[in-house]
Amino acid sequence: MMRPMFSRCASLRSVSTQTSRTLLGSWHSARSYSITPETASTSKPLDIDPSKLVVEKTTKPGPLKKPEELIFGANFTDHMLTIEWNKTTGWLEPHITPYQNLSLDPATCVFHYAFECFEGMKAYKDKQGKIRLFRPDKNMERFNKSAARIALPTFAPTALIDLISKLVKIDSRFIPEQRGYSLYLRPTMIGTQKTLGVGAPGSALLYVIASPVGPYYPTGFKAVSLEATNYAVRAWPGGVGDKKLGANYAPCIVPQREAMSRGFQQNLWLFGEEEFVTEVGTMNFFVALKNKETGQKELITAPLDGTILEGVTRDSVLSLARERLAPEGWKIEERKYTMAELDEAASEGRLIEAFGAGTAAIVSPVRCISWKGKLVNCGLQEHEESGEIATKMKNWIEARQYGDDKHEWSYVC
Ligand SMILES: Cc1ncc(COP(=O)(O)O)c(C=O)c1O
Repeated sequence: MMRPMFSRCASLRSVSTQTSRTLLGSWHSARSYSITPETASTSKPLDIDPSKLVVEKTTKPGPLKKPEELIFGANFTDHMLTIEWNKTTGWLEPHITPYQNLSLDPATCVFHYAFECFEGMKAYKDKQGKIRLFRPDKNMERFNKSAARIALPTFAPTALIDLISKLVKIDSRFIPEQRGYSLYLRPTMIGTQKTLGVGAPGSALLYVIASPVGPYYPTGFKAVSLEATNYAVRAWPGGVGDKKLGANYAPCIVPQREAMSRGFQQNLWLFGEEEFVTEVGTMNFFVALKNKETGQKELITAPLDGTILEGVTRDSVLSLARERLAPEGWKIEERKYTMAELDEAASEGRLIEAFGAGTAAIVSPVRCISWKGKLVNCGLQEHEESGEIATKMKNWIEARQYGDDKHEWSYVC
């Protein structure tokens, strides 16, 4: 029978770093993270402790891709961060090891009941060569909310930020220096208990991998066209659409492929008989329009009612809009709005622009939306690929990400 993983880790805590390095070395051939159900016993919540970090550097550094050859999520850095948790001990010592496969028993609960959540964030190199994270506290807060919703353990946000900083420094050669390039970080947590019983996992693995990425629009913005989707639903009240669970993403691929087969890049997810506009693809959605009665310019996005992911970019756009657009007379609103309202604004020439907002692209301008057999034009001229607000937001946010605009949102590693 396989020896329970947690006991091996627990004994590691008391041995010297030298010995634990030796043990670690032997793990790499067949690293099993699955543990047997009986390890889930009494709870002793040791938090993540960055001071216990064990680092094992690769002896085979990988090649660097040319920046122009980078494909999103296809290449990874030399190292990864792993931290195991079990119900008995809490969080075990963190490890930075060479990037490697995970070995998991086929009965591990993540494969059967989708005990998985993740984050998407980026590290940037500034003009001085310093590495910066963008609002990592927001990602950690959301990561903890996602984990808690699926009975996975939570952790001290600052501890994981500290460890991610160490990982990105070790792999800093992978962060391209050019503007628009960055290191995409994927913190992930999975339930690792070996059981087909449906219940809270008694063990978990938190890991972070990193992938160098280029600009979403290497040759400048390209406005996208959307299909308003009402036959499939991404999220619903009381559901988990506001959490970053892997299980929310797979079911969206078939509707996206259907939209693509009809010539539209993404789904605009509508909800309910009223056809409330919620999100676009895997981004939050913003519209700028003139109020029908007052003529005042409004920047609108759906409220965080449980069906909308709390995007870090969404929050950044709202905050910048309140800081910089509101004084120019704009009204910034988090409220429900319908596809019919957008259509009416478009037909009356009041729809100024629309864009998605998310970490991958920052903003993604929208040209038109297919709805009820017609194309709703979102305000761009034929020769334009982006509206004024989307362009400003991209520049303002990028300035803070790369540390040109010194701001508390930027965390120096
Ligand atoms: C469903 C969904 N909405 C919105 C977002 C945008 O979130 P963020 O700005 O934090 O990247 C994402 C991005 O991951 C997403 O998956």
